[in-house]
Amino acid sequence: MEQILALYRRYLRDTAFAEAGRSVKRSAVRMREQLAWRWAEAPDRFRARIGRAREAWAARRRRHVSHGADTSTTIRNFWYRARYIARYYWPRIAPAGHWLLSSRETSNFTYDLTERNRSHLASLIALVVKVPAEQVSAYIDELLADEQLKRKVIERVRALGRQGGLDPTAMFGRRVGWYAVARALKPRVIIETGVEKGLGAAVLCAALLRNGQEGHPGRYFGTDIDRAAGMLLTEPYRTMGEILYGDSLESLAALDVEIDLFINDSDHSASYEAAEYDLIAPKLSDRAVVLADNAHVTDELYLFAQRTGRQFLFFREEPANHWYLGAGIGLSFR
Ligand SMILES: C[S@@+](CC[C@H](N)C(=O)[O-])C[C@H]1O[C@@H](n2cnc3c(N)ncnc32)[C@H](O)[C@@H]1O
Repeated sequence: MEQILALYRRYLRDTAFAEAGRSVKRSAVRMREQLAWRWAEAPDRFRARIGRAREAWAARRRRHVSHGADTSTTIRNFWYRARYIARYYWPRIAPAGHWLLSSRETSNFTYDLTERNRSHLASLIALVVKVPAEQVSAYIDELLADEQLKRKVIERVRALGRQGGLDPTAMFGRRVGWYAVARALKPRVIIETGVEKGLGAAVLCAALLRNGQEGHPGRYFGTDIDRAAGMLLTEPYRTMGEILYGDSLESLAALDVEIDLFINDSDHSASYEAAEYDLIAPKLSDRAVVLADNAHVTDELYLFAQRTGRQFLFFREEPANHWYLGAGIGLSFR
């Protein structure tokens, strides 16, 4: 080191080259001093913000390190996780292509429930109507094996053609639950608000038909504001009741009956739904069951149950071979 310094003093120290080096060093020192001065002069808020950003960045790095992740792991995980999402949703997305090309349905889609979903539904309804789950399952199977009802629905859908907006398949989705409740409860009066094409009406009247054959007669009342509603409700099911055309609240107010089974499926605004429950509350029998077809969207049946000291349960549909994620049934009972 000593020798290098001696050589420097002898041959380099007084040259222009050494002077240029010293000048660069002086500039660097000046620049550092100026930066420190500017930083000291920077407004407190600006400095605090920079400080917080640096701390957040350091904390993020620490978290990353503590999870054992680095950038390449993050990229690898991204693809793994993206594939996970795709695999998870594929069973729902896959049927959509075929459905888009072949189905004529634009709303109120029809499908079957998965077998597992039907078993869960039967267990849940067993609690509501207080009969064994095996019996409820048997009622559901009875509907699914009802070839006359299916034939009647399919014939009518075919007769209506494309403008009917239904596929000629007779699949009842969550309405198998409505049927099982109607079969187990043996209601004297069923009201369904919102009939639309009449798939639910046909299912409920099929239950009443069987109940009648077993010595438990009952009557169906549907309400709908649309005069064309109810086209799937054909003989012999139509003889089990009637459709009251006009605003549902007005029809319900004029109806002087004791209700054993009430199904809300008309105007799906929360306020209208709540108004229907409040209107029928004094007309419910002691054993009445109230079903909500919109309980996957609103909390009105749950709130009604709370207001009136009733129980509440919710069932979520799992459609089989369909892109639709499913609706649900709200059930309120004593
Ligand atoms: C979702 S659909 C009913 C579906 C039917 N329950 C089924 O099982 O397929 C709703 C129906 O409610 C009717 N609706 C809407 N607002 C109404 C109101 N204020 N009074 C009576 N019916 C109404 C509509 O005309 C429509 O047909």
